Amino acid sequence: MNSQVNHKAAGAGGRSNADTPALDVERIRKDFPVLNQQIHGKPLVYLDNAATSQKPQAVIDALTHYYAFDNSNVHRGVHTLSMRATDAYENTREKVRQFINAQDQSELIFVRGTTEGINLVAQSFGQAYIHSGDEVLITAMEHHSNIVPWQILCEDRGATLNVAPMNEAGEIPLDSFEKLLTDRTKIFSVVHVSNALGTVNPVAKMIQMAHNRGIPVLIDGAQAAPHIEIDVQALDCEFYVFSSHKMYGPTGIGVVYGKHELLDAMPPYQGGGDMIASVTFEKTIYNTLPHKFEAGTPNVAGVVGLGAAIDYIGSIGLPEIGAHEHNLIEYAEEKLLAVDGVQLIGTARNKAGCVSFVLEDIHPHDVGTILDQEGIAVRTGHHCTQPVMDFFGIPATSRASFGMYNTKAEIDALIDAIHKVKEVFG
Ligand code: ALA
Repeated sequence: MNSQVNHKAAGAGGRSNADTPALDVERIRKDFPVLNQQIHGKPLVYLDNAATSQKPQAVIDALTHYYAFDNSNVHRGVHTLSMRATDAYENTREKVRQFINAQDQSELIFVRGTTEGINLVAQSFGQAYIHSGDEVLITAMEHHSNIVPWQILCEDRGATLNVAPMNEAGEIPLDSFEKLLTDRTKIFSVVHVSNALGTVNPVAKMIQMAHNRGIPVLIDGAQAAPHIEIDVQALDCEFYVFSSHKMYGPTGIGVVYGKHELLDAMPPYQGGGDMIASVTFEKTIYNTLPHKFEAGTPNVAGVVGLGAAIDYIGSIGLPEIGAHEHNLIEYAEEKLLAVDGVQLIGTARNKAGCVSFVLEDIHPHDVGTILDQEGIAVRTGHHCTQPVMDFFGIPATSRASFGMYNTKAEIDALIDAIHKVKEVFG
């Protein structure tokens, strides 16, 4: 299978040093069938990986194989197909455990994605631990999915939502963050990598600071998982949440990591099949972890596909992927800044995944439409981070976001197309 190929060998492009051998990007690109097409007569340049990444053939094959040979419900049958499906499902839990170095499989819950994961924690943890007068702390650079679930919770519980401020670079100054850690703060929830700005937050330090006050921490890892190695035991966070579809896996599946003791003490998020040990009309006894949080028939195919994505990433190596993308970001920033009228939004010292920019007073939707005519896919809009746009006093940005298969030549194509945008708008 393609996923078994070692792509680390001969290097085409990317930074090359002893620690991070260059990726064989041209070979990697052959694993992604979607990349091999023309859009409006031009080769597709896919720079919208923060919205969703493309899928390698190994992931597509895993989905097809599952539906062609193994499709069945999990944890419910003694027949062969059900046992095969259950094995495939639970084997992926072990792959996820290794991927983020969780201590135990019982700490890993499959959900629809990061959004559902944060909602699960907000509702379940909130029900157990957040009461009137308590505080929840987030930051000014959160995605809506790490704002609204906490707003809903705070409104319901009579709690207060506090927001750690951001500076002009798109960083969270730690001194002002620390002042908002109070005796009433019951949880701190923060994005690992900003989807709008690319900022990599110093989450290890933030977790330590929160823990000094006894405050548990949730990390929104949606934009980190495809780019940065995650070790939840080293981080010591209470919760870490991420999505499959941004890390080359299928849509509709994601993971909540939670420390066993906490998950055990939290009430179920949803009721239904599989999350129970026994049910009578008088009383229901809940299943053990992680099944207590997996009510109903899960997205078995999605889980299988996520397993294949983890294998695929492993065959290449996250440090190598991260180094390659880092080079792309540096190159893109240098080239963008050389274009008259481009302003970068988000200039943090430590960035991953994307570059956001505005071009003169041309609306990003117009920029994106003309780029599409050149075959270039970027995301334009507020990126589900309206408070970030408000902070910078803009309605939207254009965002180029990178994956392991992107190249400097694609960034050159982006820059050429931006010059065309400027010509059109005179
Ligand atoms: N949150 C995803 C993005 O940033 C959809 O594009």
